[in-house]
Amino acid sequence: MGRATEYVHNIAFRVAINYIVGMLSIVTLISGRGSNFEAIVKTAQNEQWPVKFAGVIANHSAAKGLEFARLQGIPAFAIEHREYPSRESFDTALIQKIDELGADLVVLAGFMRILTPGFIRHFEGRLINIHPALLPAFPGLHTHERALEAGVKEHGATVHFVNEGVDEGPIICQASVPVLEGDNVETLAARVLTAEHQIYPRAVKWFLDGRLRIEGNQVKLEPPESQFFKL
Ligand code: GRF
Repeated sequence: MGRATEYVHNIAFRVAINYIVGMLSIVTLISGRGSNFEAIVKTAQNEQWPVKFAGVIANHSAAKGLEFARLQGIPAFAIEHREYPSRESFDTALIQKIDELGADLVVLAGFMRILTPGFIRHFEGRLINIHPALLPAFPGLHTHERALEAGVKEHGATVHFVNEGVDEGPIICQASVPVLEGDNVETLAARVLTAEHQIYPRAVKWFLDGRLRIEGNQVKLEPPESQFFKL
């Protein structure tokens, strides 16, 4: 059994125990408007998930998503990356805060910082991200521009576990949307964002329910159901 697989088994065990003794905690990292974070919180409220939103952390205080968190009574923090001399020292401060908040799951929702291998290893198996493209197509930035330039007819979003590669971790689920005649970056981004808001809450719920198992670079959902949505 690989280290990641073993870790997820432990996570599944913790998920089971936590469901019996109490709620799981989510900590979300954002850099901007936080609409994915908002979609997850609203879905959790509507569906009455037994979950605790233990905190939201942004890498600068101007991140708009912090306001929504505060309105919801979710502890909101800014850890200014500019105040740290190195990526490592910033990530060490982040790890400390996330651990203090007691995160069972760390949700990256538009967090625009490259994370160090040390950070990723610390949260391995309980660190997830959403990427605005159908990975492995278009990793990195400016995905909508690149999709339009490439002339693809289908684009979308991917929720994945984070590993040390750039946008390479095991895929939890994906949603595709059509690229339409006359699309520009804004219209395409808006269509993809609507899809993101549908799949990220789903993926988080699957994790909380202990339904995800990493096997190699694949994520199995138990019991199985489609991990691909054509929207
Ligand atoms: C989303 O498009 C997400 O896929 C990407 O960053 C954007 C964040 O948007 N990682 P928001 O802050 O959740 O509104």
